[in-house]
Amino acid sequence: MEKLTPPTRLLLGPGPSNVSQRVLDAMHLPLIGHLDPAFLEIMDSVQVQLRKLFGTQNSFTLPLSATGSAGMEACFVNLLEAGDRVVVGVNGVFGTRMCEVARRCGAEVTAVEAEWGTPLDPAKMLAAIESTQPQVVAFVHAETSTGVCQPVEEITRGAKAAGALTILDCVTSLAGIPLHIDEWQVDAVYSGTQKCLSCPPGLSPVSFSPQALERVAQRKTPVQSWYLDTSLLGSYYGGGKRAYHHTAPISAIYAIYEGLRIVEEEGMDSRSERHYKAAEALIAGLEPLGLSPLVEKKFRLPMLTTVQLPEALQGDPEAALRGKLLKEFNIEVGGGLGALAGKVWRIGLMGENAKLEKVEQLISVLRKVL
Ligand SMILES: Cc1ncc(COP(=O)(O)O)c(C=O)c1O
Repeated sequence: MEKLTPPTRLLLGPGPSNVSQRVLDAMHLPLIGHLDPAFLEIMDSVQVQLRKLFGTQNSFTLPLSATGSAGMEACFVNLLEAGDRVVVGVNGVFGTRMCEVARRCGAEVTAVEAEWGTPLDPAKMLAAIESTQPQVVAFVHAETSTGVCQPVEEITRGAKAAGALTILDCVTSLAGIPLHIDEWQVDAVYSGTQKCLSCPPGLSPVSFSPQALERVAQRKTPVQSWYLDTSLLGSYYGGGKRAYHHTAPISAIYAIYEGLRIVEEEGMDSRSERHYKAAEALIAGLEPLGLSPLVEKKFRLPMLTTVQLPEALQGDPEAALRGKLLKEFNIEVGGGLGALAGKVWRIGLMGENAKLEKVEQLISVLRKVL
């Protein structure tokens, strides 16, 4: 095998984003054991900071040792049993994936659809909740496949009033937009590290409310997944006497520790403002080039902008152009998914990359190639 020499890219797609040098440096630090008191202190700090970022008092808040999709699985496998009913909002790839995960738990899924690029209609969600009386209501806060930011509270309030537990996907929003999951009445939330936290992929921060844990405790059947069972995970992450569950990925925890430290230093409000400013500058630079945003301003995500391509660029030319950006300019942007494939680009300005100089770098290259 030859020595690894990956190219240096500017990652302006839907994730991963570029990792900050401080995070890379943290990953070089000496390995210690996952039950070493020094490591448990680091883990405690990570859990404290994650609570702040999620906006929660939930004691069960931790970085799962797996990617965002495992965070999604963790929420569904713990809260659903065969025969349960779940209402899922579907306006992109990740709502669709939620339905698939819920079906594999044996749940009866009611999908409430909205056109990709638009938010879910709370009235339709509430009508489905009213008619099916589900145990769980789930939807995506930041739909990375379309760039839509979903208003949360009207849906979660309605769900809770009907006695359901709520699941929210915050993979792309964590550390980019302030989250208030307690105030929003979210019972189970999951995220990832490779987007606005600017860490490598591989961890999924999750948080479960006391009510969600109570539901798990009252299950008639064991959680289908041993690895993701919250009652077993609690023995390691739950504080007090820590017992072996699995070997925590030490270097990845160093990475998230440093990523969270950077967020704390910057402050979540300034960080969010930086994301909004970068997205505004991006759109201002793209519009004169004939690329206009897909999503109505009110529902646009700051960290992921979906732009419509002029007809002449749609289909094969867009793929060729993305290839050229990557190979000749070392810039990655994302293509469209599903019905939007070949028609849009998804441009991520996440964490480290939500900066005006990165926007200028992309726009000046696009001026040359378009
Ligand atoms: C909104 C959303 N949910 C879930 C996931 C799945 O996360 P992962 O790819 O880390 O498993 C992603 C990944 O891009 C995402 O954007």
